[in-house]
Amino acid sequence: MNVAVIGAGYVGLVQSAGLTHLGHTVTLGEANADRVADLRAGRIPIFEPGLAELIERAIENDLLFFESDNHAAVRGADVIFLTLPTPPGADGHADLRIVKSVAAELAEVLTPDQLLVTKSTVPVGTAESLRSILREKGCEAGVLSNPEFLAEGTAVDDFMRSDRIVIGAFEQDHGDRVAALYTGLEGEILITDPVSAELVKYASNAYLATRLTFANAISNISEEVGADAVQVLEAMGLDSRIGPKFLRPGPGYGGSCFPKDTAALLGITAGVGYDFPLLEAVIATDHYQRSRIIEKAGAMLGGAAGKRIAVWGVAFKANTDDVRESPAVRIARGLADAGAAIVMTDPEARTDEFPVVDDPVLAAENADMVIIATEWPEFIHADFAKVAEVMAGDIVYDVRNLLDPEAVRAAGLTYIAIGRPTI
Ligand code: UGA
Repeated sequence: MNVAVIGAGYVGLVQSAGLTHLGHTVTLGEANADRVADLRAGRIPIFEPGLAELIERAIENDLLFFESDNHAAVRGADVIFLTLPTPPGADGHADLRIVKSVAAELAEVLTPDQLLVTKSTVPVGTAESLRSILREKGCEAGVLSNPEFLAEGTAVDDFMRSDRIVIGAFEQDHGDRVAALYTGLEGEILITDPVSAELVKYASNAYLATRLTFANAISNISEEVGADAVQVLEAMGLDSRIGPKFLRPGPGYGGSCFPKDTAALLGITAGVGYDFPLLEAVIATDHYQRSRIIEKAGAMLGGAAGKRIAVWGVAFKANTDDVRESPAVRIARGLADAGAAIVMTDPEARTDEFPVVDDPVLAAENADMVIIATEWPEFIHADFAKVAEVMAGDIVYDVRNLLDPEAVRAAGLTYIAIGRPTI
């Protein structure tokens, strides 16, 4: 099929590349002309494992084209996906101005047999309001919702091996046509109405945020009672009703999705007069998680003021260069506010807020403490003998439970895990 994808951000690039892999021809519309020029030259603006290779192959096979004019991008497309930014507005609601203005622009050219599909996370009711925008302009194109469930760092794999594909359609035939695009993928396809599809996305992200926040609370309780949270959570996960995923204790959730979508779901529920104290508590407990780590780090140093702290990790999680709402940066910020000097290191991500160096050992130079804030596998293999040699202090505070405690201890360092008895 011929597909257009509007918005060459992270979701748009993965969606386009994935669809070309399934044999479809995709035109990616992007308003930023510099980005279009970069993409045409094979330069990919984000770091996402496997994405560059997929895009390169699609360009070579004449399956992927780039356009800075949206009207040109959608010409001849059977299905048009909107993968546009929906930043949080001041009230927590997603700001839909870009999505709506592009829908209005496309209404001038879309024909009744074309299908316009929202892909990026949009508030419940968006498909309905986009349909109204189109109809007001006399455009009879179909409107659907097909939320994305890609996680950064594994997005290409998530596309290829999704658990489920959710399509919200006003008309069954429209749903079937969008479903046909995904032939060849193993995920279960569920066709429902647009409002339900839109809610699936918020409910899923809020549930995952709740689950990992619960794991963090169990991890904190484990610290207090002397239990080993890793074993407690592993044992919980062995119950098939619970399952093992998203029970990894850490510094709380970050990224562009969970913080935004939990706040947005609260906004949606407030809008319909429904109280959701459970979700409010999740958000508050998540904030507490980082304050607790900041306080514990300060306490271990006898106060953070005047101390030098190396924070390993800048990205909000491993395998991405995304620093939005990054727990690593927030922890660094909290300790800097308490008077510590911060140096960070990360294989991919950067921030303007603190000095960032490439080499973890260099970051550890003269540091009183190293905090492992992002779970990059590279950190596991760091030379801890050298780290011990260059540090001023000896504490390694691993808030991801990433490192091998024995390897760190063997270098003469003091290893502090999260949710586990002090080793
Ligand atoms: C998340 C969802 O997992 C995707 O399904 C969804 O499509 C995406 O949001 C989105 O809405 O676009 P993402 O934000 O990329 O994906 O990252 P996750 O892997 O879900 O991690 C979110 C946060 O939870 C990270 O800060 C991560 O470190 C943390 N986390 C995750 C834990 O602390 N413990 C865990 O066990 C799992």
